[in-house]
Amino acid sequence: MSRKDAAEEHARLAAEVAAHDLAYHQDDAPTISDGDYDALRRRLVELESQYPTLAKNSVSQKVGAAPSGKFAKVKHAVPMLSLGNSFADEEVEEFLARMKRFLGLPEDTELAVTAEPKIDGLSMSLRYENRKLVQAATRGDGAEGENVTANIKTIKDVPHELPKSAPDLIEIRGEIYMQNADFQALNEKLIAEGEKPLANPRNGAAGSLRQQDVSITASRPLKFFAYAWGEAPQLPADTQWGMVQAFKSWGLPVNPLMVLCKSGAELLAHYHKIEAMRSQLPYDIDGVVYKLNDLGLQQRLGFVSRSPRWAIAHKFSAVQATTVLEAIDIQVGRTGALTPVARLKPVTVGGVVVSNATLHNEDEIARKDVRVGDIVIIQRAGDVIPQIVGVAERGQGTVPYEFPKVCPACGSHAEREDRGSGKADAVRRCTGGLICPAQRVERLKHFASRNAYDIEGLGDKIVHEFYEDGLIAAPQDIFTLAARDARSVKKLDQREGWGASSVANLFAAIEDRRTIALDRFIFALGIRHIGETTARVLARHYHSAEHLEEQMKAAALSEENDARHELNAIDGIGSIVAEAVIEFFGEPHNLEIYDALLKEVKPQALEAVATSSPVAGQTVVFTGALEKMTREEAKAMAERLGAKVAGSVSKKTDLLVAGPGAGSKLKDAEKHGVKVIDENGWFELIGRD
Ligand code: IVH
Repeated sequence: MSRKDAAEEHARLAAEVAAHDLAYHQDDAPTISDGDYDALRRRLVELESQYPTLAKNSVSQKVGAAPSGKFAKVKHAVPMLSLGNSFADEEVEEFLARMKRFLGLPEDTELAVTAEPKIDGLSMSLRYENRKLVQAATRGDGAEGENVTANIKTIKDVPHELPKSAPDLIEIRGEIYMQNADFQALNEKLIAEGEKPLANPRNGAAGSLRQQDVSITASRPLKFFAYAWGEAPQLPADTQWGMVQAFKSWGLPVNPLMVLCKSGAELLAHYHKIEAMRSQLPYDIDGVVYKLNDLGLQQRLGFVSRSPRWAIAHKFSAVQATTVLEAIDIQVGRTGALTPVARLKPVTVGGVVVSNATLHNEDEIARKDVRVGDIVIIQRAGDVIPQIVGVAERGQGTVPYEFPKVCPACGSHAEREDRGSGKADAVRRCTGGLICPAQRVERLKHFASRNAYDIEGLGDKIVHEFYEDGLIAAPQDIFTLAARDARSVKKLDQREGWGASSVANLFAAIEDRRTIALDRFIFALGIRHIGETTARVLARHYHSAEHLEEQMKAAALSEENDARHELNAIDGIGSIVAEAVIEFFGEPHNLEIYDALLKEVKPQALEAVATSSPVAGQTVVFTGALEKMTREEAKAMAERLGAKVAGSVSKKTDLLVAGPGAGSKLKDAEKHGVKVIDENGWFELIGRD
């Protein structure tokens, strides 16, 4: 490639990257996936390495870049999870009550709970082996993050070594952040150098940390608070409070505003105290985190999908602003839902520039009588999508908004289902199904997305382009892309923004996903109402894609049959979900895609949670009164041990755990010859007393 060509391509890519940076950092509304963005930046850097003068003043040198994709991946030994949110004061008592219910503790039990600020930075896992800092990793998707050890080692707050009192192995987790004053000074410097300022301290911290050039990170004033831990075979304490005190004694910075409370009232008092101090604190916080103090109880409570049952983030209330509603666009989702999106005259709300907001649905627009041209009140809370609260001032000559009755993408009739309830659903849906290009492309985007197939380099924008250009029309086409490209005249690497290496990376990423966990496979299909958790439940129950298909086809045959009963009896599968799955497999076009996909990929059965447990793989039903644990805890425990918990007894049940007062299920068990034990028998069986 000549220098001139390289310079031209570089200029084009740089403009594209700068536009994405703006969308991401200033509007807080990225228009491209991380993967696609990485591909652009990689190409930019590739050109700069060939012609180093291009690197001068290039966007590639700026802070605030999303991950460059150049950091090695790190699998977290213990996943890095998130926290459930609450916004109202009443939810604090609910949080306490929920834990007591789960643990079967009387309502008036006093639970000790810590309260501390929720730092608005980025979470970090620091691994100390033999008391030496050996690895630092970002959270990433919770399972896998980026190795940023060299960058972290430049931060003064982070000790490279722990004292003798610390255990041989511990992962310390906490938040990297930038103080407001440091952030402002950094922005002044950036502006003085003709650079773009950063949107907020969190972006400042993230951008400063994820630098290829460690000396840039070293020049940035980053700080750290330790508040949690990951892998840690020997714990220095048996309470949350004790753990944080141990961290402190090892020289790790901990937040001075953490307190130990004995009641909801005390937690709330501390919350309001911190809220009042918020504007005076030297760093940004967005709420208060409550954590149950007793680690034994934490363990018993465990997690629901990605958040612990024993902790919650109490967020500060939202900030509002007013601006002009310039347009209402209708987006069509993968299940055909028509979603109104407000396009706004950009306005700063709590430090972030907002230009899009959600309008929820048709009824909401009508209820608030929001019209294009009005001055509207918008509200933003934390990282939640901004929403329109109402009209501040009626615009001149405006008319009531009329929600479209046909799909803007395919022209099919759009209707509001009532599911036999007599009440129309809030959401209007396109009835076009797979003839609707918007639904097709949204399904494809979902398929390739991070929590589904997670194909790097195949983000929303690329999927859209490939779809438009007829390269992929259905999921299976992704896997034939490389073979077709080899025979094609206009090859992928001749596309704008693509080079040999980006194409090779994409094909490698696709190949890598030919084997995939069954739950991801199911989730990726985009079946209505099937989220990651339900997909996992189905994967655990049916074990293989083929068996699932066979059973669902059988279930679809009639209103009443064994396969349908089995599906409905699975714990965690409600009737709406069951209907949605059956409906999906009842649609010939879906089956066509499913079968074609199975020719390309090999979904893998999930490993049982604990294969060595005596109840692994068994189907267990609990009935009657339990004394040592609540029903919810029993279920969670059985699932941890690899058992399936069903709600009713059938011939497929392996074990019924019956407490006093057991009735019809006990009779059913006798009828089907199912083994019956009591609660003590259960604890004996699993080897615990
Ligand atoms: S505890 C298992 N404590 O909030 C729960 N998180 O919304 C571990 N965060 O990813 C998290 N301040 O990055 C915890 N004092 C604090 C926190 C905190 C900020 C962040 C953290 C986490 C996110 C969850």
